[in-house]
Amino acid sequence: MPNGKKRKACYQCGEAGHRARECPQASAELRESVNKPQPPVDRGHFSAPAALFTFGELFAGMGGFRVALDRMGGQCVFASEIDRFCVENYRHNFGGDRPAGDICRIESSSIPADLDILVGGFPCQPFSSSGSLRGMDDAKGLLFREIVRLLKDTKAKGFILENVRGLLLHNDGATFAIIRKELEDCGYHVCHEVVDAVNILPQERRRLFIVGIRCDINPPKAYSFPKLPALARGVEDILHSEDGTDALSKDDLERLALTNHQISKVRAQPYTQKHPEARFLSNTAKAAKTMQSSYTKWIIGSQFVPSDANLRDRDEPTPIRTPDGDDVDMQQWRRYSSREAARLQGFPESFHLCSQRAYHMIGNSVAPPVISMVAAPLLQALGLKGKDDGWGWEITKDLLLEASPNDERRESLRALLDRPDP
Ligand SMILES: C[S@@+](CC[C@H](N)C(=O)[O-])C[C@H]1O[C@@H](n2cnc3c(N)ncnc32)[C@H](O)[C@@H]1O
Repeated sequence: MPNGKKRKACYQCGEAGHRARECPQASAELRESVNKPQPPVDRGHFSAPAALFTFGELFAGMGGFRVALDRMGGQCVFASEIDRFCVENYRHNFGGDRPAGDICRIESSSIPADLDILVGGFPCQPFSSSGSLRGMDDAKGLLFREIVRLLKDTKAKGFILENVRGLLLHNDGATFAIIRKELEDCGYHVCHEVVDAVNILPQERRRLFIVGIRCDINPPKAYSFPKLPALARGVEDILHSEDGTDALSKDDLERLALTNHQISKVRAQPYTQKHPEARFLSNTAKAAKTMQSSYTKWIIGSQFVPSDANLRDRDEPTPIRTPDGDDVDMQQWRRYSSREAARLQGFPESFHLCSQRAYHMIGNSVAPPVISMVAAPLLQALGLKGKDDGWGWEITKDLLLEASPNDERRESLRALLDRPDP
């Protein structure tokens, strides 16, 4: 390279010297969409069915909040998302509704008046241990201020924000203190809690939820975070079957298997060198580790499942080296398919996943069945009626069942969910 900087290897083929979008192996779909001009900034497009409450979805990604809130009888009247792949995927899943683009360029007046709830998982890289950790010094950290601007202008009755739990610890808690104060200064009672999706989904996913209720809501009712029932689910609940309609084809299996190049990348990464004991092959009776947006990039988030059914009944997690330092054979390991990754997050089987960047979107998204649990008490506290007047469990159960791969697994999950005290 002329400036002496080494270019990163292309993540499509592993070769250095070109980016994934220029890779001869990239699909025509990716090359075409990258060359398409960006749509002009506008207000987005939203259909207007009758609804029990309205919401706006910032940093919409693949619409994880919306999957849950639609079910609860909400109407999404506004969304914003900058990534064109996410926008396309969103349109596909939500009846052609198109999020407006860069939030920094959206006038508050574009958002319909009398908004009930504003939701959003603001970009977490500045606060995440696998991201920059530069917090508010990072341009993406400052996107939080766009939420503040829109809360001040729209005066939504309540909000739900989501982020990595590292935000609580960032800068010894000082960053979160600023965030909380700015939200309170907008005129809201604010509370927060770390909620772990692993209680109801087979994935460890601790995320910080910040919930606000406008101070003048009369009478202000307290918000309590939900207590999620501990279902103790394992990855086996969401894996493709060995046969039947849900089975992976031979081509899929080949595509998901680890190539020698990928195996050597996993072995060479600094994290692996430092932690040879780390769990790389999932124990299928237990929950997966957190699905990260970097899943396909072979860094810390790498986790695999056995492609050989004989490897599935292990009691212990499998690292990539034996205690004697010998390499473990990884040829029978594969990545999760993007559908399995979506199931780990609780997205319904009917949810369309675009072929490009699916893992990236899924790793960034919120888990819809957690959102229905967090949103139900907020609707109650705001005096809004959702379809689920109780604690959100009925809608959450439906979402969990819809993220099941086949009738057999759905039936055993139903039995678990229908226990008197799940
Ligand atoms: C953590 S993800 C949120 C994912 C989302 N909650 C979901 O369920 O899929 C943050 C999203 O913010 C989007 N984003 C980043 N900067 C943005 C901006 N300036 N305007 C609008 N969206 C932006 C990113 O493309 C990414 O999809």
